[in-house]
Amino acid sequence: MAALLETKGLCYDYPDGTPALTDVSIRLNEGGKTALIGANGSGKSTLLMLLAGCFAPSRGEVLLRGEPAGQDLWMLKNSAGLVFQEPDDQLFMPSVLEDAAFGLVARDVPAEEARAIARACLEKLGIQHLADRPPHRLSGGEKRSAALAGILAMKPEIILLDEPSASLDPRARRNLIGTLRELDKTMVIATHDLEMASALCDAAVLLFKGRVAGEGFMGCPENSLMDEKFLRDHGL
Ligand SMILES: Nc1ncnc2c1ncn2[C@@H]1O[C@H](COP(=O)(O)OP(=O)(O)O)[C@@H](O)[C@H]1O
Ligand SMILES: [Mg+2]
Repeated sequence: MAALLETKGLCYDYPDGTPALTDVSIRLNEGGKTALIGANGSGKSTLLMLLAGCFAPSRGEVLLRGEPAGQDLWMLKNSAGLVFQEPDDQLFMPSVLEDAAFGLVARDVPAEEARAIARACLEKLGIQHLADRPPHRLSGGEKRSAALAGILAMKPEIILLDEPSASLDPRARRNLIGTLRELDKTMVIATHDLEMASALCDAAVLLFKGRVAGEGFMGCPENSLMDEKFLRDHGL
């Protein structure tokens, strides 16, 4: 069976020549939650950008249901929603509700309908009480949820999250883990929060200096990713 999302020999060099990803081949199955782990600078964010169709591969390819996206970044943009590491990079409308509805309005969904869908997403995430608040006045955890609502509203097949637990206090982090666990979606979660990864994900891919250094299913004792020394040797 074709994976929902797959990469084959994926490489990405930044315009200044920095090679951020080299020969990355991974498979993401439908409905799975995969942790993308690795030290700072290992290429996690870059890989998410490629999976979301924000960057085009330098070499290699991204495939959706077995079909190569090639340079058709819209194919990926339409199916994968990326929640940025910094919610402030994503939230810019005057209210949380308008922000969550923005992506739909931009795709010509009538304003009323967009707001209704957005409101349902806020409810799903338990932040309906924040609907009229300006996003820049929210706490870190609330901002994270507001940014996620805007992505959920677009009904992507795949949700990509970049360091979702970064800078959250323990309670906000626990709430977020609970929320993500409840969402029945294919997800890729880039993180160096190994505890969150094992609480949430069924599989993990370890990046090291832009290459896949290990992968496996969580909780499986033969999995090298369960080995502390292996992880330490790879910067975690
Ligand atoms: N805009 C950029 N221009 C040049 N190099 C970059 C840029 N963004 C990231 N990099 C480099 O690409 C590599 C991977 O970075 P990144 O994907 O952000 O890693 P991670 O998210 O795992 O911390 C690093 O070596 C980083 O310095
Ligand atoms: Mg990053």
